[in-house]
Formats: sequence, C-alpha cells, structure tokens
Amino acid sequence: MIAALDRLAGLLLDGDAGADDHRLDVFDPTTGEAIAAIATSSVDDCLAAVEAASHAARGWADAPPRERGEILRRCYETMMAEQAEIATLLQLENGKPMAEALGEVAYAADFFRWFSEEAVRIAGEVRRSPIGDKRIMVLPEPVGVSLQITPWNFPAAMPVRKIAPALAAGCTTVVKPAPATPLTAYCVAELMGRCGVPEGVVNLVLPEPPNEATVAMLAHRAVRKVSFTGSIAVGKHLLRLAADRVLRTSMELGGNAPFVVLADADLDVAVRSAVAAKMRNTGATCVAPNRLYVHERIAHDFTEALSAAMAGLAVGYDRQPDAEVGALISPGERDKVAGLVSGAVDGGAKVVTGGRAPDGGGYFYEPTVLADVAPDAPILAGEIFGPVAPVVRFSDEARAVEMANDTDAGLIAYVMSGDMGHGLAIGEQLDAGMVAVNRGIISDASAPFGGVKESGIGREGGFEGIEEYLERKYVATDW
Ligand code: SIN
Repeated sequence: MIAALDRLAGLLLDGDAGADDHRLDVFDPTTGEAIAAIATSSVDDCLAAVEAASHAARGWADAPPRERGEILRRCYETMMAEQAEIATLLQLENGKPMAEALGEVAYAADFFRWFSEEAVRIAGEVRRSPIGDKRIMVLPEPVGVSLQITPWNFPAAMPVRKIAPALAAGCTTVVKPAPATPLTAYCVAELMGRCGVPEGVVNLVLPEPPNEATVAMLAHRAVRKVSFTGSIAVGKHLLRLAADRVLRTSMELGGNAPFVVLADADLDVAVRSAVAAKMRNTGATCVAPNRLYVHERIAHDFTEALSAAMAGLAVGYDRQPDAEVGALISPGERDKVAGLVSGAVDGGAKVVTGGRAPDGGGYFYEPTVLADVAPDAPILAGEIFGPVAPVVRFSDEARAVEMANDTDAGLIAYVMSGDMGHGLAIGEQLDAGMVAVNRGIISDASAPFGGVKESGIGREGGFEGIEEYLERKYVATDW
C-alpha cells in the first residue's frame, strides 16, 4: 500500500462496495489497471460542501493574515517533507514519470510558500480626492466562497495553485478535482488539515458526472467566484453559468502554443527548449508547443536534432523508475493523438521519429516528430496534448508571426533566437499572455500564469495571483 493512499483509507471503497452510481474507479494509466475506488459526491453533498465553506468564511476572513500565512507555510514544509510519498501517489494515478511527479510536488508546494508570503502583504490604499475634500480608502476584502475546478494533468499543482491564493486572501473554497486523478487532491487536502487549515475552509467534492452538481453549486448564493483550468469549451460553459450570477471568474483555458525558431537560433538551445517544453508531462500541458515554425535555413538540422533527442527519451513502460516519458491519461487521449498523427500523415507530413502507439498495457504514445507539415494541417488547429512535435517551415519572419497568431488561443508562445533583442522583438508581436525567449519551461509560482484571447481570464501565481481572490471596497471618509 502506498503511504499517501493509506491516509485516504476512510475515503476509499473496498472491493465491490459502492458498486453503483456513487463509485469512481481510478486507473494507473501506465498499466490500465484500477488502483483504487473512491466514493463520488451527490448534488446534496456538493451543496453541503458549499454550506460548509460559507460557514467557515467569516472566521477565515477574520483570521490574522500572519496566521493564515503560517498555516500555508506549514503546508509548504509538510508537502516537501512528504514529497516522495505524494509523488508516488500522483504518478500512480496520472502516469507521469517519477522525476516529473517529484518536480510537480515541489512546484505545487511552491505555491503554498509563495502565497504564505503574500498573505501578509495584501495592501489597501488611502488617497485624497482631487478636490481635496475627502479621503478615499480602498480596502482589500476576500471575494468569498470560491468553486475551483482542476484538471488531471497536474493533480497536485493545479489544485494548490488555486487553493493557496484563495486561502491567503481569506477565501474559503470548494474544490472539484478531475475524476481521473482525484487521489492526489484528497491527499493534499488531508495534509492541509494536519497543517492547521480549519474545518470547512477547503472542501473537496467529486460529483460524477459533474455538470448537474456544478450548476447547482454555481447557483448557490454563497458562491462568489469560479476558477477553472481546463478546456476552452468547458470554460465557456462555466462562463455562461457564471454570467447568470455575475460571479468573479478566473479561467485558465487551452493553448495552441507556437514555437518559433528564427534563422539565428542557437540549435542546441532551441532543441533543448523544444524537448523540455514539448515533453513535459508527455505533452499533456496547455503550454506545450503545438506548432513548431522553423526557419528554412535551419529546419533540416533542427528537425534531425530534435528527432534524435526525442527518440533517445526513455519511455516509462512497466513503471520504469528512470523513465522520461509517461503515459497519456486514457485510451481515448492516446487514440486522439494517434488520429491527429495519421491525419497529418495523410495530408503529406513525414514521420521522422515515433508515430506509433506501442502494443501492450498502458496508454503510451511514442515521442514523435513530424516534418513537412502543411501550414493548414488540422493537427495545428488545436491542442495535441501528447508527445508529438509537428514542424512547419517558414522563410519569412512576418509570415511566421502571422501563422503563430492565427489562432483563437493565446496562452504562450516560444521564440528561439541567438540575438536576444531579435527574440524579444518577435516576442512582442506574438499574441500570448506569456512568451518564452530561449526557454522551454516557464512555470513558476512567482510568475503570473495566464493567457489572452480564448485562453483565459486572469492570472495564477505571482503578485497577480492573490488579486483574483480580492475585492476592493471603497470607503469614503471625511477626516
Ligand atoms: C497547464 O495548465 O497545462 C500547465 C500548467 C503549468 O505549467 O503550470
């Protein structure tokens, strides 16, 4: 038994227990085997969680910021002390390699640390009115009860990236983790209880199917905010529901990241960055490069070097401890990736490496590089969410920028150039909430993560992250 799973003993179902509508089996994507079963939440359970968050709201908002900060700091320290244990559970339900699971737990813990420091730095403002007859006080206040809906690709980091700023700001939350990977979120919630987070401040629910309960929770008067990470389609659905109640929203939705390799790029840096960005979480991230636009002068060398690097990665069959490539989350995701690749090949793309879902258990797909991809190929139109790098050549930079911006998504764009000024100048022309110049990994608890256009609303992390959970109250005074 995995130690972290032991802690969830009260939540897990044995054998056939709950073998009805209220049971959710959780699978190991590297083998396809069920690893645990957990009870799902009814609509009433979800509304009870909202009530609990509502009852706890006043006390938590009134708790001294230092106290809130110290509890979050303890969460950071405990999470790091239990890093290996949590990573083992995370890996089991998500299928990412152990090194990445450990990295994700550290990344998640860092949001606790960052927001423990932010909890005591929430500032208001006092101004004099222009006429000079009064003082304008602007007081920060917690938004209130937040519903936070998180995806399966980062089962620890995405819940913590939402919970930590909410708690730092004095909000209470109801968290709905992804049904494919709920165990890590429950494990983090259990840890938070041990670190002193009071009852009712963080409430987990697992409604399955989720829509009816989500609609009911968002209709509850106590809920004042919804924060979601996931697809653009679901984000739009939640925004429509939020509009009915004029809720605050934070939306971290899909991307379709361009990765532009300019003619003056340093080949090693470009390849290293492409592999790091593309292969993190086996390509299942919204920040993964989806479309690699490479200047024709270096396209051949880049494609060869990228293919060699991708082909050399160790795929994690049979839970190999030193694996560098994990499994996709489900057979459906693997088949979707396979379908995109075969569609691209039918359209004239060439498989330079990979291009296959290996036989055997687990939902793996080989690291794949496609060359000669047509600029209008369907594989470039949306998130691949798998280990596939389609390379498109360009000869004219203006055209590369045009192709890069030709999407409704605008989360992140990558630019590779040996001349920083050149890279930054191109970066300024790219429509994205984040730009990486000569870097493959940008995620950082101290940086504002988020997109423009349909990629989302708001920012997570950084100084901006806590603002998502604060209202500003104007108090007019006459001293
Ligand atoms: C994602 O949402 O897929 C990426 C998350 C991150 O890098 O923080």
